[in-house]
Amino acid sequence: MQHSTNNPSPIPGKLKGKLAFVTGASRGLGRWIAVELAQQGAAVAVNYAHSDEDAAHTVALIAKAGGEALAIRADITKEEEVREAAGQAEAAFGRSIGVLVNNATGPQPMLSIEDSDWKDYEDQLAFFVKAPLLLVKAVLPGMRAAGSGSIVNIGSEVVQLGNARFASYVTAKSAMIGMTRSWASELEPAGIRVNLVAPGWIPVERHAGASTDDYAGRVPLQRMGEPKDIAAAVAFLASDEARFITGQCLSVNGGLTFGI
Ligand SMILES: NC(=O)c1ccc[n+]([C@@H]2O[C@H](COP(=O)([O-])OP(=O)(O)OC[C@H]3O[C@@H](n4cnc5c(N)ncnc54)[C@H](OP(=O)(O)O)[C@@H]3O)[C@@H](O)[C@H]2O)c1
Repeated sequence: MQHSTNNPSPIPGKLKGKLAFVTGASRGLGRWIAVELAQQGAAVAVNYAHSDEDAAHTVALIAKAGGEALAIRADITKEEEVREAAGQAEAAFGRSIGVLVNNATGPQPMLSIEDSDWKDYEDQLAFFVKAPLLLVKAVLPGMRAAGSGSIVNIGSEVVQLGNARFASYVTAKSAMIGMTRSWASELEPAGIRVNLVAPGWIPVERHAGASTDDYAGRVPLQRMGEPKDIAAAVAFLASDEARFITGQCLSVNGGLTFGI
């Protein structure tokens, strides 16, 4: 566990005083979401399952900017580990989790229908349906007691695009949309908002070397998105600035899916 409460000058920001839990924050989009939430004043639990070194690097980036973060190793598909992780974050920072970002992903294999079996679908549902359910159940007592909270699920534009040989992932990301809306309805009376950010293709470490020219050429805003584009949208939805927004899906993809 890597812990930083090194906060030389309190960071002003729209998330000041909040505790955020970001799943899969050791690299990729999750890292930059964690950094942005910390820059906006939140203390951040940086969740990951495998790479201590990468998670420590995210914590170090936050500490360098004067923020507060704690790396928490937990496989978010395992109920007991999720419960312990949420408790660890709340104990470390002495407050309940007010912002939950369901971001983590495992491998996303592209498979034809003939080459897919139910297990391939279950693997995706475990990350995008089961894990968010476990996380929400773990943070709900604190959010209900506080009478507020913001949950941001990370979806994908593939739901609109319907990419071929990707149905296990597309199916699970589609399920996230219905789940977001139903949770938003159920939790609205408790003062808890639930929204979804749907990124376009945002190159991260795992895309190193991939050619982006064709995709970028189809994006109306004529460029690839960057992790900070997603992080800014998440920070907004997480904050009280979005207090009148719930049950929504926000595409952050340079306009690629508008009109669909
Ligand atoms: N990047 C894109 O182009 C893009 C586009 C649309 C949607 N998205 C969505 O955005 C989210 C982030 O994607 P990404 O591209 O940033 O992925 P990524 O770079 O592969 O990062 C995945 C993160 O999840 C963690 N992780 C893996 N298994 C885990 C587990 N069992 N429990 C907890 N953490 C686990 C990884 O850390 P460890 O390996 O250290 O555990 C890592 O921090 C995903 O939901 C993805 O579907 C991404």
